[in-house]
Amino acid sequence: MPALVLLGAQWGDEGKGKATDLLGGSVDYVVRYQGGNNAGHTVVVGDQKYALHLLPSGILSPTCTPVIGNGVVVDPSVLLSELSGLNERGVDTSKLLISGNAHIITPYNVTVDKVTERFLGKRKIGTTGRGIGPTYADKINRVGIRVQDLYDESILTQKVEAALDVKNQILTKLYNRRAIAVDQVVEELVGYAEKLAPYVADTVLVLNQALEDDKVVLFEGGQGTLLDIDHGTYPFVTSSNPTAGGACTGAGVGPTKISRVIGILKAYTTRVGAGPFPTELFDEDGDALRRIGGERGVTTGRDRRCGWFDAVIARYATRVNGLTDFFLTKLDVLTGWEQIPVCVAYEIDGRRVEELPYSQSDFHHAKPVYETLPGWSEDITKAKSFSDLPKNAQNYVKALEEMSGAPISAIGVGPGRDETIEINSFL
Ligand code: IMP
Repeated sequence: MPALVLLGAQWGDEGKGKATDLLGGSVDYVVRYQGGNNAGHTVVVGDQKYALHLLPSGILSPTCTPVIGNGVVVDPSVLLSELSGLNERGVDTSKLLISGNAHIITPYNVTVDKVTERFLGKRKIGTTGRGIGPTYADKINRVGIRVQDLYDESILTQKVEAALDVKNQILTKLYNRRAIAVDQVVEELVGYAEKLAPYVADTVLVLNQALEDDKVVLFEGGQGTLLDIDHGTYPFVTSSNPTAGGACTGAGVGPTKISRVIGILKAYTTRVGAGPFPTELFDEDGDALRRIGGERGVTTGRDRRCGWFDAVIARYATRVNGLTDFFLTKLDVLTGWEQIPVCVAYEIDGRRVEELPYSQSDFHHAKPVYETLPGWSEDITKAKSFSDLPKNAQNYVKALEEMSGAPISAIGVGPGRDETIEINSFL
């Protein structure tokens, strides 16, 4: 029963789509367990490029069943347009399964996300504005709407009423907005019910049976470790648990079933939105990483903040996720630098600190301590094995591995499906 978790080891956007897609052919189920359409995967198949936001990247593999687990928040309009966009390009999406327990991102959740951010002004989180946080807040407050509620209009109406009761007070009295009408929301949501019906399933049962039948199940995290609501750089985080434990709660599979946890690690670091980022670069190196790495958000189109590799973060990701492997991505982006700085520790108020500080104030004061590694200038995109890499690139990978605390089992050397060096098989 190989059950693999694949997740971002930094602040998201590490190139998970490529990794999941690489495994796609041998994986029977690809499961998203948290987040929503705040995620963005770019998957390149042949000369085709697909940008996925909510759907698991396994949707592109004909032998794979893609699953949206109970821990995901689903915006039905986004989901349906993503599905029809793929259908128009000839992708068969009929195998998709959606948990009836997944929560729905309602139109009012999106409104609340946007007005709250505007209200926060300088203190804003820099959310994707997709309603993610408010939907999870409703879930925790027990006023959320679930996929299954779409199939009982009377219950749905009561639930929307309960949710809007307080929200309309806040929207009108605090934010000076118009109140949102219950029947309008109900009408919109009921309109999705029939279109979603073929996909809705008891995904917990399906996945546990699949594991008993020795199927290969891949749990695909959205965002990344440092954006985790519990283990990330709170409050500059997303509202769910991308870390490995989230795969269990967000899909209904016990921790004893998980056999491997793979962290996707970019050969440098990026971050979108606000919050601390010790190795961030504000100079031409940062601009070059952004330009060469194509560091622009798939979902929001925002430029990503860029910086050198941070081994403190990688070590932390190994610890909180129990990582068994790393998939190092975008090594090719670093080609051409004579010297490559790598952050090995922080200096915080005059002290050298080797591990990620738990205190938010300390982390905000953390200054990177760099070691510099020699770079390479040869094109590495055609490398098929580790020994094809120039010596300095090999040494860079080995140094990262040693500092990060888990073996690097695959290396991305270009965006294409075949531009990957496999060192240890994931299966
Ligand atoms: P939210 O997830 O829209 O609530 O945004 C919260 C924070 O997470 C913001 O800093 C976003 O930029 C960041 N974020 C959300 N999704 C992603 C992602 O897929 N990649 C990188 N950052 C993300």
